[in-house]
Amino acid sequence: MIQFIQASKTYAGGTTALRNVNLTIKQGEFVAVIGLSGAGKSTLIRCINRMHELTEGKLLVDNVDIAKLKGKQIRQFRRRIGMIFQSFNLVTRTTVINNVLVSFVPELPMWRKLTGMFTREQKIKALEALDKVGILDKAYTRVDQLSGGQQQRVALARTLAQQPDIILADEPIASLDPVTARAVMDDFRNINKQMNISVIMNIHHVDIALEYADRILGVRKGEIVFDGPSSQVTAEMLRHIYGGEWEAESSWEASAAYA
Ligand SMILES: Nc1ncnc2c1ncn2[C@@H]1O[C@H](COP(=O)(O)OP(=O)(O)OP(=O)(O)O)[C@@H](O)[C@H]1O
Ligand SMILES: [Mg+2]
Repeated sequence: MIQFIQASKTYAGGTTALRNVNLTIKQGEFVAVIGLSGAGKSTLIRCINRMHELTEGKLLVDNVDIAKLKGKQIRQFRRRIGMIFQSFNLVTRTTVINNVLVSFVPELPMWRKLTGMFTREQKIKALEALDKVGILDKAYTRVDQLSGGQQQRVALARTLAQQPDIILADEPIASLDPVTARAVMDDFRNINKQMNISVIMNIHHVDIALEYADRILGVRKGEIVFDGPSSQVTAEMLRHIYGGEWEAESSWEASAAYA
């Protein structure tokens, strides 16, 4: 469970990106965060793994105040939280399986780190993770020979191999074509439903957010202005979240459906 309690974040330059956020996300939820560029979506999700620190209020994960974690505790805590980016963040000049095995590096004793030796169990876990996202056959292919959608699946497999409780995804489908985007969203849904991993995802495609997420958070100027099930998102609410500019932000399908 993730709890934001009166949480605010002001960056060093003076921009307040989150204002008094109160929010509880239960284990296993699929949450989509929507809102205009600059609304504070990335800040919101990046505070959850302490990539950014709150400046006011608290963030509890399973009742632990994460601001109090130090050194090794932070590293252990971060291992429970996977992070997926728009840009995949892979080492493209090596194989798919090597990219997945990277997730085990923090667990290795120094001598294994130096020799780059992974255990048989770790290799099996890596292959299982690739199987979960349907690219087991690509295990020994170099990443730079894969499509964008396949690369995002490698990133997802790398995250799964660390057996997270939570996956934070910052616009994971932003650089994919609509068909591939849906295939990757299907993977997120399967992982969420079958493994009960919470997914908290920033996404600019309103129609896809409504289709896949159980719960929508609408962020505007650092505030949560909508929090509810996808089924309750109306055109009026989207105008509220996007300040009248939402038609330009979303696809024609969503516009048609909610006009
Ligand atoms: N590292 C930073 N230092 C200073 N200001 C920042 C930093 N990161 C974000 N901001 C500011 O905080 C606000 C919220 O940014 P954030 O990246 O969370 O928005 P976003 O909703 O994710 O936008 P986008 O849809 O463009 O990714 C913006 O005004 C941004 O300029
Ligand atoms: Mg962002």
